[in-house]
Amino acid sequence: MGMQRLDKIIASTGKWSRREVRELVRRGAVLVDGTAAQKADEKADPEASVIEVNGERLCYQAFTWIMMNKPAGVLSATEDGRGRTVLDLLPAELQRRKLFPVGRLDKDTEGLLLLTNDGVSAHALLSPKRHVDKVYYARVSGRLTAEDCGAFAAGMSLGDGLQCLPAELEILSAGAESEARVTLREGKFHQVKRMLAARGKPVLYLERVRMAGLELDRGLARGEFRMLTEEEAEKIRSLV
Ligand code: URA
Repeated sequence: MGMQRLDKIIASTGKWSRREVRELVRRGAVLVDGTAAQKADEKADPEASVIEVNGERLCYQAFTWIMMNKPAGVLSATEDGRGRTVLDLLPAELQRRKLFPVGRLDKDTEGLLLLTNDGVSAHALLSPKRHVDKVYYARVSGRLTAEDCGAFAAGMSLGDGLQCLPAELEILSAGAESEARVTLREGKFHQVKRMLAARGKPVLYLERVRMAGLELDRGLARGEFRMLTEEEAEKIRSLV
């Protein structure tokens, strides 16, 4: 990685802006290998030096990984002339980092969306060969039955030619409207909606609650985001 400006390294954690880093340095709150930094633009090697901010060791990651609780009404795209995208929900400092969503959620789907600028790992996570789990909460119109679960488990063939891998449908409640937890190991366009529609149970609401072993952080309100913890980033690294 080599030498980089301290303000860039510290701001890359997403906890402080570069302006705040300048203030922290002025207050003597930034230490590099035990010595107070003099200037925010001095250089350090984040992988070779111990950098501390306010007495805590900086957790430096070469790439940015973000967990967002996507709200309905925004597109999982990097730019779109027709509407707001998930990147519009990020502050300017993060928007400059060339982040992109790791796979897409439909405009009306809510929940766990990962964003990164680590193209190689994102590509690997999305590879159809990798079969990374994705779990959804779905509310549908109609009564879900054991036959629906059996069809999911067998691997559905959709009328439009899509042959789905075996998937799990766990019924949470059944009635005129039903609720279910759906686990897929692939991510074809509108796949959950298409599979449930093929069973005659159109989706009324869809939320992704888990992906690649990471749970949606319920502390995040819709539209909020946070950096992945070191433990979560390690989970991603172990998958790719
Ligand atoms: N399946 C869908 O149908 N929509 C999504 O947004 C994600 C999975």
